Amino acid sequence: MKALLLENIHPEGIRLLTERGIEVETVRGALDEDELAARMAGVQLLGIRSKTNVTRRVLDAAPDLLAVGAFCIGTNQVDVSGAAERGVAVFNAPFSNTRSVVELVVAEIISLARHLTDKNAAMHAGVWDKSAKGAHEVRGRTLGIVGYGNIGSQLSVVAEALGMQVYFYDVADKLALGNARRCETLDELLEVAETVTLHVDGRPGNAGLFGAEQFAKMRHRSLFLNLCRGIVVDHEALRENLLSGHIAGAALDVFAAEPKTAGDPFVSSLQGIPNVILTPHVGGSTEEAQSDIGRFVAIKLGDYATAGATTMSVNLPQVVAAPELGEPGRGRILHVHRNVPGVLARVNTVLGDAGVNIEGQTLSTRGELGYVITDTVGVVGPELVERLRALPETVRLRVLDAG
Ligand SMILES: NC(=O)c1ccc[n+]([C@@H]2O[C@H](COP(=O)([O-])OP(=O)(O)OC[C@H]3O[C@@H](n4cnc5c(N)ncnc54)[C@H](O)[C@@H]3O)[C@@H](O)[C@H]2O)c1
Repeated sequence: MKALLLENIHPEGIRLLTERGIEVETVRGALDEDELAARMAGVQLLGIRSKTNVTRRVLDAAPDLLAVGAFCIGTNQVDVSGAAERGVAVFNAPFSNTRSVVELVVAEIISLARHLTDKNAAMHAGVWDKSAKGAHEVRGRTLGIVGYGNIGSQLSVVAEALGMQVYFYDVADKLALGNARRCETLDELLEVAETVTLHVDGRPGNAGLFGAEQFAKMRHRSLFLNLCRGIVVDHEALRENLLSGHIAGAALDVFAAEPKTAGDPFVSSLQGIPNVILTPHVGGSTEEAQSDIGRFVAIKLGDYATAGATTMSVNLPQVVAAPELGEPGRGRILHVHRNVPGVLARVNTVLGDAGVNIEGQTLSTRGELGYVITDTVGVVGPELVERLRALPETVRLRVLDAG
């Protein structure tokens, strides 16, 4: 089995795939559509990061492709439905940088409460401004978390350890961790929080979630942070509230329009305002997160390649599969099919007619697709494989042999 890994994937990912006997070929940078399509023959596993687009054309040029590993958080660069139609699994690492974001939020809350960036800038400019005015401990202060998902809920735990009183608001019904208190509405949260931090996802309805009306409802001299999505916040409204002193400080890591590459100019109406921290979308960018992404995605690719497991695939039905096939003489049939009534009965009729004994079978469906893993006693021969492949519902068929 061969894996083609582009865009300088972390060595941990390469190590884990090689350890499983997978031949790994690496390319330092991204490839464009033509270059990638030309290299896909004979590649079973493709690893990319955010700069390579896996388009329908690339998929059409990849008859041997089993899975795509997006060694990053998002999968917008992959045609995930096109991949599903071909029975190609797509994996990513949605949680690997959660902790990195949480730690930056905590650092920024403390920095804003102590005006650290202004003090630092003054010192570099030769100004010794030793004063406690406007500087606060975060202990005992209220933190309002909007969006209590992976990041919001982990932040809740860490903030409580600092002695903060946590309130949260989420559109979904979320279990409160520790002593955190749930707010029924965003307005309720804005009434109590001295620091408000946004951690919602990028669903279309969240564009413009936070504007003049919400800033007006925040407590006077409170702090504001956004490390989720740029489109969620109206920066002009934030600027006005910072200049008027209603908001005492803000930290922004994400922007509606971000420069494409390092070194491109960055312009924002929030530049030059005191106690405003601007960072270039680095909330999740740590070496630990990169290493964890390498590990996480390589394990998912390896488990799919050697055992058929689709746990946490973003596009195929998810089936948990035991990593071992058992003693010699056992087989495993991996069958991605159209999710239509009676398909499982038809698969099992083919197996029964061939005298194959089923030792275990797990089915999962997702939209128009179904995926069934069947463990058999007895080796699955080529004739049986052809009969399964000929079923009109079959999208992709693969057989693993215990030897
Ligand atoms: N700055 C960075 O580098 C960086 C890194 C990782 C993630 N992120 C961003 O952080 C955000 C959160 O990530 P996550 O992994 O915690 O996502 P998640 O999907 O686990 O959590 C998002 C939560 O927000 C809630 N939500 C959505 N819309 C809401 C609304 N209007 N009001 C209240 N709650 C709402 C959802 O119900 C969910 O619980 C995402 O937008 C992600 O893109 C940024």
